[in-house]
Amino acid sequence: MKRILITGGAGFVGSNLALRLRAEWPACAVVALDNFYRKGSELNVGRLEKGGVTVQTGDVREAGSFGREPYDLVIDAAAEPSVLAGASGDVRYVLDTNLGGTLNLLEAARGWNARVLFISTSRIYPLAALRAIPLVETETRFEIAANPGMPGLSAHGIAEEFPVGGARTLYGATKFASEIMAQEYAAQWGLKVLINRCGVLAGPWQMGRVDQGVTALWVAAHHYGRPLSYIGYGGKQVRDVLHIDDFADLVIRQIRRDAFWDGRIYNVGGGREISFSLRELTRCVSNIVGRQIPLGEDPQIRASDVPFYLTDRRRVMADFEWRPGRNLETLIGDTAKWMRDHETLLRPVFGG
Ligand SMILES: NC(=O)c1ccc[n+]([C@@H]2O[C@H](COP(=O)([O-])OP(=O)(O)OC[C@H]3O[C@@H](n4cnc5c(N)ncnc54)[C@H](O)[C@@H]3O)[C@@H](O)[C@H]2O)c1
Repeated sequence: MKRILITGGAGFVGSNLALRLRAEWPACAVVALDNFYRKGSELNVGRLEKGGVTVQTGDVREAGSFGREPYDLVIDAAAEPSVLAGASGDVRYVLDTNLGGTLNLLEAARGWNARVLFISTSRIYPLAALRAIPLVETETRFEIAANPGMPGLSAHGIAEEFPVGGARTLYGATKFASEIMAQEYAAQWGLKVLINRCGVLAGPWQMGRVDQGVTALWVAAHHYGRPLSYIGYGGKQVRDVLHIDDFADLVIRQIRRDAFWDGRIYNVGGGREISFSLRELTRCVSNIVGRQIPLGEDPQIRASDVPFYLTDRRRVMADFEWRPGRNLETLIGDTAKWMRDHETLLRPVFGG
């Protein structure tokens, strides 16, 4: 590998991957392409350049933005990642970036015969099917009822066989459509494609906001002493989470195993072992940050909300002999330290 392109390379996932890949393959040129749509992505430029990554301003919606010089590997991490995107009726940006941008990148990769890593999302699973998971309520969280009797669902969580028919938000739909196209390119032209369907990814350098990046948002609210609310489900909604450094470890293993790049899809996440409900997250964050904040409750469930998602990560763990090593406390501790260490830099983003 001589050249790697990461679109959305100044974003949370893109910047962390860019720096890790550059450190892993120092002889390889790593280019981070971004249009700085996400507030706070500009703050990653300094650390990217310091780490030897070339930052290029460009927009994936324009087919010519990737340049002519070929790449060996492209990683699609550019997106409008909000589940609320387009809900107000203004749909162009999310469609053109999440689907159009991926199509542009697939076409470029076909021309270069580059490998393609597509960062997809658990949000491709339809809302109605996720809401139909039978749940029981414990003191702090929802839990899957015994013998749920749905395909792709077990006590481990949601596996790749979970049903995919049904509406899923514009964000989820654009990512699902991109998955289908990436697989099509693999089948038609033998393009080497791998798809990671990720649950919540988190850690330092995530510019969390209400609609995306919940753990960073939670840490910021505690750090700056601002109120928060549980929206719907009384704070008992459950997600698993994966530290971005564990995700980077996985990607490095995946890059080394060329034979698996045939359009395969993997559910990727921290799984049951690294999961939280919002109530449990509050307890963990307030312990680590050392502050309690007022927590309100808004009972209204939004169209895109789901009460439960846990990744069944057994397939990705087996195929790549990978296992996440960082638990929730480490993840929150790392995020809190990052926020303390960069308080002045981050104040404009988190609005302290
Ligand atoms: N963070 C998560 O929990 C998570 C979970 C599952 C999947 N993902 C996927 O990972 C990818 C990266 O997400 P993230 O969390 O880093 O979000 P992010 O918002 O931090 O990063 C996305 C980056 O893409 C850039 N971008 C947006 N539109 C662009 C355009 N038209 N042209 C060029 N750049 C553009 C943004 O400026 C930003 O820097 C996304 O594809 C998302 O779907 C993220």
